[in-house]
Amino acid sequence: MALVTGAARGIGLATARRLTADGFHVVMTDIDRQTVDEAAAAIARDDMGSAEGRYLDVRDEAACEAIIAELPRIDSVVNNAGIFEVTRTDDLTTDDFRRMYDINLVGMFVLARAASRRMTSSGRIVNLASRAYLGAVNYAHYVASKAAVVGLTRALALELAPRGILVNAVAPGVIDTPILAAWSDEERAKLAAVQPVGRLGRPDDIAAMISFLASPQTEFITGQVILVDGGRSLGGLAT
Ligand code: NAI
Repeated sequence: MALVTGAARGIGLATARRLTADGFHVVMTDIDRQTVDEAAAAIARDDMGSAEGRYLDVRDEAACEAIIAELPRIDSVVNNAGIFEVTRTDDLTTDDFRRMYDINLVGMFVLARAASRRMTSSGRIVNLASRAYLGAVNYAHYVASKAAVVGLTRALALELAPRGILVNAVAPGVIDTPILAAWSDEERAKLAAVQPVGRLGRPDDIAAMISFLASPQTEFITGQVILVDGGRSLGGLAT
């Protein structure tokens, strides 16, 4: 049984579909109750696998703990829910900064802690970081939250490995999902042109890596941050 946060759309939805195809029963959670319920129902209707939709705001600590406690078992958790916004530091409020941490990081910690308490002999936790953890301009709060995801992943990996719980992070590059809604088609085309592979990522590109790391068959990788970014994080001078 797997739980995916932020599963109503984008990378979370693609991941839920992929994990159901892998044979997991997937608990799809989101703050968008209607869309996540419909998405789970569509998976069952299209005979893609077994899924259920559940309302979960990752900022709600008690709800995060309760949902894990209610499951008959938990094998894999995908901490995917997250927000992104562009605000230059001069205009960034402390409240903006804290909100980013609450959604992108603290909820992830609470769910990982709750799940690890129940994963007595094995388990997989996959956290969504971002290539932005390397550094980026005009969203310091997002960058900091994703760098913290990397630190959390590495720390949990060391602590939980003796119990067979493997913890890894996926760091996507630019993936074409609703999170990019603020960008025009022209801006997307420009972004695509600077990716070494010549296109933006697709949610399925990320879901494939999450599926690999969430699988009980993946037994010897922990504490890693896998960049899935079409080569964008590579160095090199233009010729
Ligand atoms: P998205 O905006 O398309 O989907 C995010 C989902 O999370 C939505 O369904 C939303 O309702 C849900 N959500 C937001 N706040 C929530 C909360 N408090 N509790 C529960 N659910 C909540 O985003 P996308 O692009 O699919 O991103 C998924 C993850 O991947 C995020 O952690 C994001 O930071 C990360 N990522 C995305 C990249 C991209 O270019 N799309 C690049 C790097 C990382």
